[in-house]
This record gives sequence, structure tokens and C-alpha cells, in this order.
Amino acid sequence: MLPALTASLKTERVAVTIEQLPLALHGTTVVQLSDFHFDGYSLSPSLLETAIAQCNRLVPDLVVLTGDFITRNPSDIEALAVYLQHLRSRLGVYAVLGNHDSPSARVRRHVQQTLAAVEVVPLWNDIAYPWGDRLPLVGLADISSPDCQPELLLAQLPPSTPRLVLAHNPDTMDKLRSSRADLVLSGHTHGGQVILPGGIPAPSLLKKLSPWVPPIVKQQMPFFNQDCERVFRHWEWAAGLHTVGARQLYVNRGLASYWPGRLFCPPELTVITLLAAPPLEEKDSAICSGSD
Ligand SMILES: [Fe+2]
Repeated sequence: MLPALTASLKTERVAVTIEQLPLALHGTTVVQLSDFHFDGYSLSPSLLETAIAQCNRLVPDLVVLTGDFITRNPSDIEALAVYLQHLRSRLGVYAVLGNHDSPSARVRRHVQQTLAAVEVVPLWNDIAYPWGDRLPLVGLADISSPDCQPELLLAQLPPSTPRLVLAHNPDTMDKLRSSRADLVLSGHTHGGQVILPGGIPAPSLLKKLSPWVPPIVKQQMPFFNQDCERVFRHWEWAAGLHTVGARQLYVNRGLASYWPGRLFCPPELTVITLLAAPPLEEKDSAICSGSD
């Protein structure tokens, strides 16, 4: 197969205010990488090495990996782990698994065990405390699994405790509507891979055209299929920072590229800086001065 079209790694920086974040954690940094698909076609070793070197240069407090380490072959995780073992951060490296990493319990366990062997902590409906109990890190099961029941997991935390949530597929936001989830970090979309004029992800347009496309074309191009609804629904959240109700969502464009590749949608490393919300009195005075 011909290699997919890609581009140089782009580092995106985003600052997110978290209500009730302790002042001691103001300015803490999280680097996010996502969607490796290390299958021999979709991600070159050189781009992967560039991303790991860039991550280490930034000296983050925490590194999070938001799934799809492999595409189909479970043994690809071993080759990827050789690279991932070089990731460094002050408080560790944590991961959630994607749909490709968890087609069965056997594959999931293999991916989890291989990650754990190189000190990447896999979370599958687990809560970790790299910052202590002031800011839990919640890692959800992939939405394609019946294990994905975020309400039950998040209800274990005190309502006044802010929390960071890792969920491979951004559609998981639909299951978080009644839970506190201050910032959700996701991947899965590859940013849409091809961005059309006006910033429209190509798959969202293809989905709209679906009713007029002949069946023979749909067979060749899965994005025309109604079935692609199962893969991803909310293309309005294809990449970047979004506010969804009282929750914030950041979607990383990933590193790998499915064939034929990317256009105006470079592979991404994200640096997220968490900010404490200003005290109430300061907010009040800001509102007063804004209305003068
Ligand atoms: Fe995925």
C-alpha cells in the first residue's frame, strides 16, 4: 500500500480553566498524544520519535495517551511499546484504550499488559491520583464496550472535586450529561483528516451526502455508509476545544493517518495548561468593571 499523505507534527497549546482547581495545581501541564495505529502503514517511526522527543522537551507534569495504539494486529503493540518507554513526565504516563485496542477481552488485556510493562498505566474504568485526591484522573472504557458506564464511575468522586477524564471517543460526552467532568480529553477522529474550505471536516460533508450516493460507491467508501454513525456521530467536535454544557472537551487530531492521508489537518501533540478559576470576589469585580 502507498504511504498515506501526512504533515509535520504540530504542537497545539491550550489553557483550560477548571472550577475548584486547587491553587497549588494552577499552571500544571499535561501533554496529550493520541491515535498511534502503529501498524506499519499509518504512522512512521520518525514521526513517532519526533512526537516523543517534543513531549520530553516540554517536561510536562503528566502525559496522557488517548487510545488506538494498534489498528488490527494485537502484536503491533509490542513494537510501539519500544518507543513509548522513552516518554518522560514528572507524575507518570497514563492511557485509555480505543476501539481498535479492545475488540475482545483477550486483545484488550494484551494491550494493557504490554503498556504496563513499559510504565504506561492503562485505565479502563479506573480512577488514578497522580496529583493526589485533589484532582483525580478518570480513564473510561471505550464507548464501543458495554463496560463504558461513566456515570457509575464518576459518582464515586465527591461532587466538589474537579476531575480530568480520558475518553477515546468524543461521542462519550453523550454519556456524561448527568456527571461532573470538568475536562474530557479525547482522540479517535483524526481531526477528520481532510479539512475542506470553511474548516469543514470532509467526513461530516460525506455523511450529509449519503442519501444521494449509489450503493456501489458506499461499499467502497465507509464514510458514506449509515454504519459510520457507529464510528462517530458528532463531527462538530472533530478537533480542538469545545464547551458541552458545563463540561469542556478537547479532541486531539492524533498522530496516525488512514489512507489516503491528511490535508490541512496535521498530526498533533497537545500541551494543556490547567488554570484555577479566579476567586469569587475577583469575578464579581470583573463583572462590575465590564458593565461600566
Ligand atoms: Fe478510534
